[in-house]
Amino acid sequence: MGRIIAVANQKGGVGKTTTSINLAACLAEKGQKVLAVDMDPQGNMTSGLGVDKNSLQNTIYTAMCEECNVGECMIVHPLENKKMNLSLLPANRDLAGAEVELFIEADKPQYILKELLAKVRDKFDFVIIDCPPALGILTVNSMTAADTVLVPIQCEFFALDGLTQLMYTINLIKKKLNKSLEIEGVVFTMFDARTNLSLEVVENVKNNLDQFIYKTIIPRNVRLAEAPSFGLPINLYDSRSAGAKGYRDLADEVINNKLYAGL
Ligand SMILES: Nc1ncnc2c1ncn2[C@@H]1O[C@H](COP(=O)(O)OP(=O)(O)OP(=O)(O)O)[C@@H](O)[C@H]1O
Ligand SMILES: [Mg+2]
Repeated sequence: MGRIIAVANQKGGVGKTTTSINLAACLAEKGQKVLAVDMDPQGNMTSGLGVDKNSLQNTIYTAMCEECNVGECMIVHPLENKKMNLSLLPANRDLAGAEVELFIEADKPQYILKELLAKVRDKFDFVIIDCPPALGILTVNSMTAADTVLVPIQCEFFALDGLTQLMYTINLIKKKLNKSLEIEGVVFTMFDARTNLSLEVVENVKNNLDQFIYKTIIPRNVRLAEAPSFGLPINLYDSRSAGAKGYRDLADEVINNKLYAGL
């Protein structure tokens, strides 16, 4: 059964989408069967995987509203790279409507994504969900559907801001909606080896946060910022870049995470 990982942090611009796209692609490159799920109305994961989000008739939103089934909105091989077993449940700005509509219309609005993914998770080794920068119904759906939450933390001065709120939310969801939810771990992003600040942030978070922290630290790398505008993940855009090495190392660590020993 596929491991469902929600990549979440309500802080904007910390590297959630970059991590979701590239972790998904690097896992797929290593032979894992991967489903990428875009739960952000910005649709950055969708366009970053080469899909024109505005031309889509069926998206995760139409599936959540029961206007199509999950198979009808799934894009198999969005990158047209048949060597990588990667599929996508795409999103665009229509998903913003879900916040209000699902709350009003659905019986159990927190469980909609969980029920959709239950129909397909068996076909995958990993399901990677890119969450929006908010702790609203879309993030609650993602965490309710997930086995674990992976938290990207940007190496900048305010890195710890908001983490208490995030941990509180994760624990609340664990208590009320998803008893088996665990924190997969924390991954540092946009690390700049030339500054003391990046090092200080890593030390500070390590001293103040009682969570598993991935050994892999994702460097600040301009190739990672460029890749989405070509609709490619980093391993296909610049396979030899420092960013590609970072996300390949992270994929190895995720595959071997002790949290899943015995599964
Ligand atoms: N390691 C990196 N090196 C250089 N640029 C990066 C790196 N990681 C992310 N970026 C850039 O930083 C910006 C924010 O990253 P990203 O979109 O992944 O964050 P996010 O948390 O998904 O944002 P949002 O909260 O808006 O969804 C983007 O322009 C991205 O290209
Ligand atoms: Mg994002």
